[in-house]
Amino acid sequence: MPSLSVFGAQWGDEGKGKIIDHLAHEQDVVVRYQGGANAGHTVVVGTRKFVLHHLPSGILHQGKRNVIGNGMAVDPETLLREIEELQRSGFPIGPENLAVSGAAHVIFPHHRRLDVAAEAWLGKGRIGTTGRGIGPCYADKAARTGLRMADLLDKDRLRSRLTAALAEKNALLERVHGEPGLDLETEIERAAGFGARLAPLVTDTGALVRKAYAAKERVLFEGAQGVMLDVDHGTYPFVTSSNTTTHGIAAGAGFPPNRIDRAWGIAKAYCTRVGEGPFPSEEVGAVGERIRELGNEYGATTGRPRRCGWLDAVALRYGLELNGADGWILTNLDVLSPFEEIPVAVAYERGKRRSEEFPFGCASLEEVRPVYERRPGWGADITGVRHHADLPTAAQDYVAWVEKKAGAPVVLISVGPERDQVIPRAGLALARRS
Ligand code: IMP
Repeated sequence: MPSLSVFGAQWGDEGKGKIIDHLAHEQDVVVRYQGGANAGHTVVVGTRKFVLHHLPSGILHQGKRNVIGNGMAVDPETLLREIEELQRSGFPIGPENLAVSGAAHVIFPHHRRLDVAAEAWLGKGRIGTTGRGIGPCYADKAARTGLRMADLLDKDRLRSRLTAALAEKNALLERVHGEPGLDLETEIERAAGFGARLAPLVTDTGALVRKAYAAKERVLFEGAQGVMLDVDHGTYPFVTSSNTTTHGIAAGAGFPPNRIDRAWGIAKAYCTRVGEGPFPSEEVGAVGERIRELGNEYGATTGRPRRCGWLDAVALRYGLELNGADGWILTNLDVLSPFEEIPVAVAYERGKRRSEEFPFGCASLEEVRPVYERRPGWGADITGVRHHADLPTAAQDYVAWVEKKAGAPVVLISVGPERDQVIPRAGLALARRS
């Protein structure tokens, strides 16, 4: 399997960090291609827990190359902190195992400030962003006023680009949002300092990834957030500002789309969402709280309690089909063990109309009511199970049923946060793309 896309098939927080860390054993290169410090990929190694924001999850393995692609929005201060924290924990990081694209856009303090300020103006229509400056940074990228990592390494260019950018951003902060502006000289010095420290890592990552693939190395593309947060295909406007789907790889990693050999989605056995926006199968009462406590569903980046609800097979089928998924990984199955009955949304009702199709547009998703089918629970602790055949029959039946509803086979099942709490799906015959 020379190249593999692994993407979140729900609203993010599907357990990508753990699964990609597990799959990283078999990879040579792990590539992030979108998002930034809004992501929080949690990996548990023994008694230690690591939350990665920028760094690809392969960084916790020896001998892997990790890539921060051009499609990411990099906050250099946070990235340096992340690198130093891992180095202190005994993980060596340097040009031999980490490459940062010179074309990745840079998040500055004014992006973070404008992210928070813009949300306050939106009032009830606010998105509930992570406040990490993601939206304003990608907006500047599209407006062609952003700065890229390579700009931090050239002080004259940094000065001229940041002078122009801050003139506008300070006017916005001061005159629209009534906040103090930022000092240009201080910002230039800070950014140049970050650039100098990151310089040994900054390179043409697109060329690196393409060469690795041509040399038959195995490349894994690590998606952040999830399908429903994709700026084009998610629940717009309640989305993040990048293409979280497999479609983001070509542009965000500089990789030919016809060389993406396989795509796997990741979905929890239930659903969660952080921030605002439609969530048809949400449980707002005691059931939602029970799922939250059982699944410890609190944001890895912001600590916010996640909204919780049942698995939505309509949205999942849409996400898998949109991404051309060859299979998917079912995570957090153990969290459902205490439930006697497990509801799964199999259709939506809008007025008297019932449909199994995911509706187009966010407004229509706000109007649907989920139709549930209930499956029997298995009533046993499955966190110690490592072989598919050792799962209780009801759990095996649940997996078989749910993959039919999702329209693609389950390839792995995760039953806990530890690296080894993974069950390969038995009897799986995946067709290889030619
Ligand atoms: P932003 O990416 O910070 O602009 O936030 C936009 C929306 O995406 C908000 O609803 C966030 O809560 C959500 N979001 C961003 N990153 C993640 C993530 O990694 N997991 C889950 N939700 C996320």
